[in-house]
Amino acid sequence: MKIIRAKDYYDMSRKAANIISAQVIMKPNAVLGLATGGTPVGTYKQLIEWYNKGDIDFSSVTTINLDEYRGLPRDHEQSYWYFMHENFFNFVNVQEENIFVPDGANPDSEAACKAYDQVIHKAGGIDLQLLGIGTDGHIGFNEPGSAFELETHCVDLTDETIKSNQRFFGEGEEVPKQAYTMGIKTIMQARKVLMVANGEDKAEILKKAFEGPVTPAVQASILQMHPDFTLVADEAALSLLDL
Ligand code: F6R
Repeated sequence: MKIIRAKDYYDMSRKAANIISAQVIMKPNAVLGLATGGTPVGTYKQLIEWYNKGDIDFSSVTTINLDEYRGLPRDHEQSYWYFMHENFFNFVNVQEENIFVPDGANPDSEAACKAYDQVIHKAGGIDLQLLGIGTDGHIGFNEPGSAFELETHCVDLTDETIKSNQRFFGEGEEVPKQAYTMGIKTIMQARKVLMVANGEDKAEILKKAFEGPVTPAVQASILQMHPDFTLVADEAALSLLDL
């Protein structure tokens, strides 16, 4: 694995956007695996800025998001479909038919997850998967203890994740308790994996995930075994690592 140290959130975002940008320049029809959450928003902002300058073209790119809440339709303001449009897709030229997010509105979990795996296989797999990391080490919605062998599946979210996601929902609004997520197997099959992390609240989990043992208890730790994994993190998030 490669660790790239960034000064701060802005620097982390620019470095991550540079790596994504290089991928799209090298392969204009790249398949990008994308993530929601607070961390990658700055990366998307930077990519939008470069798109506006004419430096990057997404017209042949396919995007396949990591996860979606089960029970939320696309047009729900808290759905990840909505989030991705608000933070990225509405501002660049990714073709709508090349955008994929698990179908949260499909109550048939098995069918929804199977269909999503087919989307990934049909696209020829993921060239570059962007990830954030939860404070308990989750990637996508793969919670501590999940089997590493899983492809897209339905998960019961932990209390910690539900609590942490509360900030994206209105006061008193209920946070969904289940989600469809790519599994660790799906993520590990991506040809490149790029994780972004910032802030001191991620320091402890980065230490555990990347300087501790590979264990399902810390889902992100499996990335130590990925042949092309890059972590771009700011100084606060890297503060506990020995490096
Ligand atoms: C997002 C996702 C999650 C987040 C993680 C970190 O699609 O799957 O695993 O990456 O919860 O979230 P932030 O970036 O908000 O700290």
